[in-house]
Amino acid sequence: MVLDTQQNKNERPEPLSGKHKNSFAYLTIRDRLPDILTKIIDRFVKLASKELSVGNNEEAEDSKAVISKLSKLKNEMQTDKPLVTLDDNWYDVRVWNEFLSKVSENMASNDTIALPPSWFSVPWLYCECYLYRRVFEILQLSNFHMSFDPFFEQKSNAFHSSSEAIQNLASNLAAMTTDNSGSHNGDNESPPEDILRTRFEILLEYCLWGNKCDLSISAGRQVDNQLRESSQLKDLSKNILSNHTESIWELLCHIKSSDSFKSENGVVRFDFVLDNSGFELYTDLCLAEYLIRANYCQLVYFHVKSIPWFVSDVTKDDFHWTLEQCASSDNAFLSQLGHTWKKRVDDGNFVVIENTFWTSPYDYAAMRTVNHELYRFLAGSQLVIFKGDLNYRKLIGDRNWSHCTPFSEALHGFCPAALCSLRTLKADLVVGLEKGQSEALDKQQKNWMVCGDFAVVQFCHSL
Ligand code: F6P
Ligand code: MG
Repeated sequence: MVLDTQQNKNERPEPLSGKHKNSFAYLTIRDRLPDILTKIIDRFVKLASKELSVGNNEEAEDSKAVISKLSKLKNEMQTDKPLVTLDDNWYDVRVWNEFLSKVSENMASNDTIALPPSWFSVPWLYCECYLYRRVFEILQLSNFHMSFDPFFEQKSNAFHSSSEAIQNLASNLAAMTTDNSGSHNGDNESPPEDILRTRFEILLEYCLWGNKCDLSISAGRQVDNQLRESSQLKDLSKNILSNHTESIWELLCHIKSSDSFKSENGVVRFDFVLDNSGFELYTDLCLAEYLIRANYCQLVYFHVKSIPWFVSDVTKDDFHWTLEQCASSDNAFLSQLGHTWKKRVDDGNFVVIENTFWTSPYDYAAMRTVNHELYRFLAGSQLVIFKGDLNYRKLIGDRNWSHCTPFSEALHGFCPAALCSLRTLKADLVVGLEKGQSEALDKQQKNWMVCGDFAVVQFCHSL
């Protein structure tokens, strides 16, 4: 069953799906997603008892109703019930319900026995996104918890538990940018290109390995995989299986030395399609800060999720909360960074932007057709940085590609601007490897595709 909005429907391999019992998709739907739902239920149990204890009886009743709907949802998933249409009034309801009816039509026309789309039978990408959207529907239909983020506590704990790594990086960044490297006011001479490049590579790798820290792979449990010292990056670099950093660097140098990249108001713009809150977001901000200070760009758009998503993904509130936490830190370097970032937001050099497409069931090859506006918007960027595993899955359509397929081919026509993906592997798909590489990895570490110890930095300039 392939849901493809492109012309050549059969060009791509099959999407990953929980219907294959030996797949990571199957295990995710069977074990990890119910675990995540249980954590949300626990969160509401705690909330209901807190609401009761302060006499907010109506709120507590509402929380209990949420708990019962979440339990029902968990049961639907575990017993592989048919997927149902959404019933709230949020902006994207039509998109989701149309998607479901297209999937139904597709299944009816492709399968010999036409069964309704169910949790394990549909593409994994759709199933997993649908789960988070159903959780949001339950909140939307509640009386008091419409804007409650059930993952906020976990995200906040994750940020605070990384404080050592965060403070170390704050002082590293200060050291990298307070000599003559692209200083704030630009009145000092810039350091040699090799130094600028080394610093860029360090920050890019922080940003890459920051993606190890998502909370959905561990069903919300804190895992200590902090990057406390930049020296750790050296050991990790051998685990970057496909590394296009040099091409990204060449683009940056070209941008800096050429006026043709600047928009009418003389501004170079980069975009981050963000992934997780906590340490990862912080590393994204540090890379963006470096790129501005070293004068590679003047404007950064940060694309965030508009609903609670995959446990740890950044929402607008998380973004601003993170800036506040940094600004109010006792650590002088961190607090200075927080204030600088708040000012960048006020001045419009950092822009936080939402679009419901990021939390839709579509992969990115469909963007040009189903959200042309967003595609056109990204085309105005000089570099779009996609963070993390889920973005990677959406970039390559969450399909069972041969591992040696070129990254640019797997994008299947999606390249609104020069783009790169910084992703640690947490799902059993990857492209852009050399011949024989995955066979060697199979021997080295059985679970290399899903353990988060390996990564890719992949780049596509244009198709
Ligand atoms: O649960 C599936 C999954 O997409 C994994 O592949 C990954 O662990 C997680 O969710 C999201 O990871 P990331 O935060 O890097 O997108
Ligand atoms: Mg995530």
